[in-house]
Amino acid sequence: MHKLALSGSGYHLPVSPPPTAPGSPDPSRASSRTRRERYAPPSSHYLDEHKREHLTPAIGLRFEREFQLKDVLALPEGDERREATFEELAYLISLHGVCAFPAQDLSPEDLERLALALGRASGAPADSDLHIHPTAALGEDGRPKVGTISNKADSRGARINFKDERSELASQGIHTDISFERRPARYSMLRMHTLPPTGGDTLFYSSYAHHDKLSAPMRAMLSGLRARHSGAMFREQARRHGFDLHLGPRGAPDNVDDSFEASHPVIRTNAVTGFNTLFVNQCFTERIEGVTFDESRALLDYLFKLQAQSHDAQVRYRWSEGDLCIWDNSACLHCATFDYDEERSGDRTVFVGEAPAFDAERGRSRREALASVV
Ligand code: SIN
Repeated sequence: MHKLALSGSGYHLPVSPPPTAPGSPDPSRASSRTRRERYAPPSSHYLDEHKREHLTPAIGLRFEREFQLKDVLALPEGDERREATFEELAYLISLHGVCAFPAQDLSPEDLERLALALGRASGAPADSDLHIHPTAALGEDGRPKVGTISNKADSRGARINFKDERSELASQGIHTDISFERRPARYSMLRMHTLPPTGGDTLFYSSYAHHDKLSAPMRAMLSGLRARHSGAMFREQARRHGFDLHLGPRGAPDNVDDSFEASHPVIRTNAVTGFNTLFVNQCFTERIEGVTFDESRALLDYLFKLQAQSHDAQVRYRWSEGDLCIWDNSACLHCATFDYDEERSGDRTVFVGEAPAFDAERGRSRREALASVV
């Protein structure tokens, strides 16, 4: 059994998956290679040969640059090593929130293949696919063009993650991807190819750590509540600039129509690790349901403050050209930094997951689960 070092903040994450295997089999797991116990880490160890380091105790893992994901993609589909490596990768990304892979030699098409392989290896529902953003420009084949993260609106005036009214508070942009969808994002990946000389860092925030900072009575109350998430700003963007929105399906059969609204549990259990997370974000979460307007406002104000001000739960990632970051949107939030004038752009793909759920029986606090392994 691994020994986990206890630190001042309570625990250190293992660099490899923890050795716990709670729960019973999950019939929804898509991989036919193995039938793992629900929430159990993979039993294979192909990734152990690649050095990696923690970015902070709470969130983030960076692999050595010699590890090229292109080599994993090049293995034949169905190959034991390929499938197992993607399962290990998926688990590590979900456990650490975000993993960084420096200097990756990957084309936009490789990124699409990577997102599909990783998403499927993570046990996502079989009908999960790459997300097509409502504002996405489609190519002639009707598919979205990859390569769309940029500090500038595109030629049609479309931008993917902003309210039109910009605040001077950089933290205003903290979000999880597409939480206005009924089936929001599982993994997002961004490979940065054009960077300003300085600036443009991305911040990642551990939603496991945010959950674990809540008191037991607060967790108990929030775990019975749902919140409404809205992407109505895209309708406004489209109206103002006169472009059409993509009405769906957007990566899952449930992601259709132009309401761009969804109701999700406030406390969500990460479907890969079984650890509970705080699942609200100030870009898209508008209202906690079932409580008064004022109670909703007060609760959300506190939760957004917890997310923005807990710098012990954050990592600020400084990009180098070719770096790829892959994050699990039910394990972390993220926020770009707009402190530069030059071009900054990269290729981005988003793989849709399940409808968010709280597992009252087996969902656990990550801190408590890992501390108990010592
Ligand atoms: C995003 O918000 O999805 C991209 C993050 C970034 O541009 O740093």
